[in-house]
Amino acid sequence: MDFFEVVTTRHSVRAFSAAAVEADKVRQILEAANLSPSAGNLQAYEIYVVTQPSRRTELAEAALQQDFIASAPIVFVFCAHPARSESKYGERGVRLYAVQDATIACCFAMLAATALGLATVWVGAFKDEAVRRVIGVPEGIVPVAMLPVGCAAEQPAPTSRRSLGQLVHQVDDGGENPKHQTQNKVDSINSISRLPQSF
Ligand SMILES: Cc1cc2nc3c(=O)[nH]c(=O)nc-3n(C[C@H](O)[C@H](O)[C@H](O)COP(=O)(O)O)c2cc1C
Repeated sequence: MDFFEVVTTRHSVRAFSAAAVEADKVRQILEAANLSPSAGNLQAYEIYVVTQPSRRTELAEAALQQDFIASAPIVFVFCAHPARSESKYGERGVRLYAVQDATIACCFAMLAATALGLATVWVGAFKDEAVRRVIGVPEGIVPVAMLPVGCAAEQPAPTSRRSLGQLVHQVDDGGENPKHQTQNKVDSINSISRLPQSF
């Protein structure tokens, strides 16, 4: 699948069939995550792979009863490893880079799963301590995102997006000081966008 097909066909799926995800696909997803960029190439994240049904159910409970999580045959839990980033970047590594590293790794995994024809949904709403207990992570490791993956058992409706005009600020207009966005410049960005134009 072409990259832009991947990003345009990806939609959050919240119902999964019981079909297992083949081991080679799991490997490809993890390899893709491992290729994601990270601050200082420290890879300040850890990935926990959960397949056991009872544990998936516990993860769903930890995620404020989002029961669809248990229906996915495999759930990846991406955690920040702040100490790894702190070694080089101090407080900024702890507060920011470790979380970004985990987030980008999860994003790469999500897009890889999509490219493999699998369905995913990013899950960020959960009780940290409860998730930590379920997956048994050591002290200092912080769950950042869960990624249930499987075969879609629903066809989700595409979601809307803000227009680029609402999000993009054209800083440079040739002057010395930053000047934020004339509508014309932002409109010219909109016209080349692949994203939906309306919210
Ligand atoms: C940081 C973050 C947290 C999210 N948390 C949840 C969640 O807890 N439960 C859920 O069903 N979807 C969650 N989502 C998915 C969003 O609801 C979804 O991406 C958004 O509505 C856009 O829909 P789309 O993914 O189909 O494009 C989360 C997404 C992100 C990026």
